[in-house]
Amino acid sequence: MCNSNNTTIYKPVSFSATVITELMIPSYSNFGGKIHGGIILSLMDKVAYVCAAKHAGNYCVTASIDAVDFLQPVEVGYLVSLMASVNYVGKTSLVVGIKVVSENIKTNEIFHTNTSYFTMVAKDENNQTIKVPGLILESREQVRRFLEARSRKELKSNYKQEAEKVVMPDHEVLWREMLSGERCTIAN
Ligand SMILES: CC(C)(COP(=O)(O)OP(=O)(O)OC[C@H]1O[C@@H](n2cnc3c(N)ncnc32)[C@H](O)[C@@H]1OP(=O)(O)O)[C@@H](O)C(=O)NCCC(=O)NCCS
Repeated sequence: MCNSNNTTIYKPVSFSATVITELMIPSYSNFGGKIHGGIILSLMDKVAYVCAAKHAGNYCVTASIDAVDFLQPVEVGYLVSLMASVNYVGKTSLVVGIKVVSENIKTNEIFHTNTSYFTMVAKDENNQTIKVPGLILESREQVRRFLEARSRKELKSNYKQEAEKVVMPDHEVLWREMLSGERCTIAN
């Protein structure tokens, strides 16, 4: 499965699949008594790193995080579990899909908190990007995730190009027209 220079090796998704479970303690809460979004993000970054580094066999950095929508607030005293697996590999980058759930310990009710995708890039000891092993897909689900990740990558590149197409006219009158209906105003 492995050789020392990562040139032609492939690793199965199961090799690096990672679960982290953490108790939500009171110091993680915000003024509303719910868990800070930043705590969850930090745990997501941690599990993404573990999963990516295990697959890559190298140090990895976070290159990009897809939109993170918080579907449910997380309560103090709940257990949060983060399930991560490599969904896609490029040349030096890979995408880790993460599902986050919270659990009420007393009732065992499970809540889906969010799902997101982290793009991680492998680096060598000289801080240069380095090729990651290929991915062995072991189920129909894993094939679907790979194809969806590839599709998101293409959409992301189109979306960036579309956003950059916004033409900024020279005249302020036109800015006002373009912003009509928006909740903003241009300072004099
Ligand atoms: C991410 C980083 C390694 C990319 O470096 P780079 O010189 O632009 O490298 P490249 O253009 O060769 O891209 C390397 C890979 O990363 C991918 N990549 C780079 N930026 C990306 C982005 N914003 N989103 C998704 N993928 C990205 C490229 O598609 C490429 O993938 P591939 O090799 O699988 O085809 C570099 O920008 C970096 O080190 N950033 C800081 C990362 C960091 O510190 N993270 C922690 C945040 S505090």
